[in-house]
Amino acid sequence: MKVAPSILSADFGNLARDVSAICDAGCDYVHVDVMDGHFVPNLTIGPVVVNAVEKAATKPLDIHLMVENNTFFVELFAPLKPEFISFHIEEEKHAHRLIQKIRSLGIRPAVTLNPHTPPEKIEYILEDIDMVLLMSVNPGFGGQKFIPNVIAKATRLKELIQKYNPNCLIEVDGGVNDKNVHDLRKAGVDIVVAGSYVFKHESYKEAISSLQI
Ligand code: DX5
Ligand code: ZN
Repeated sequence: MKVAPSILSADFGNLARDVSAICDAGCDYVHVDVMDGHFVPNLTIGPVVVNAVEKAATKPLDIHLMVENNTFFVELFAPLKPEFISFHIEEEKHAHRLIQKIRSLGIRPAVTLNPHTPPEKIEYILEDIDMVLLMSVNPGFGGQKFIPNVIAKATRLKELIQKYNPNCLIEVDGGVNDKNVHDLRKAGVDIVVAGSYVFKHESYKEAISSLQI
């Protein structure tokens, strides 16, 4: 299991320090939550701050867009050369076009599903993407409770992935900890995002390695 700590739970007054600390502690990716105050009832960070994050990071960025205008935000963040950009399928009429655009910018495209969105919704774009991000909380805030249904959903998604694109990764985001990570692993999840679990732990290294099962 790979681990992408969400910097939403970092100390924003000491963001560079915290980003370099999670990288030194052995994380695999740095998860960046971009919220526009429209798609979700919260606002986070734009390219100026993410640029500072990128400078402090020694691991690749995993950008999770929670925004209404996906194309605008993809163009805004593309110069930072993240590994992944994921967009919410609930907010995109032209998913295939946007996927092509992300790939043409040299970034790996990923699609995010809210807790209520069935995996079948992305059946016909699975072969075009590198990762599916399954939300295990309602997006917008860190520190929420894990919705256990995501385990059955990951199992179903894995079947679709085997059929259409066995290389496609599954990432789960929200309320992940050292207890539920085992069921996620069994369901075929490849990457977990963890915000409060990592940043509230007294040792980032211990927290991250407890998820790298
Ligand atoms: C929620 C974000 C998550 C969040 C995870 O909208 O996408 O990345 O920060 O935080 P925890 O692990 O605390 O649920
Ligand atoms: Zn996220």
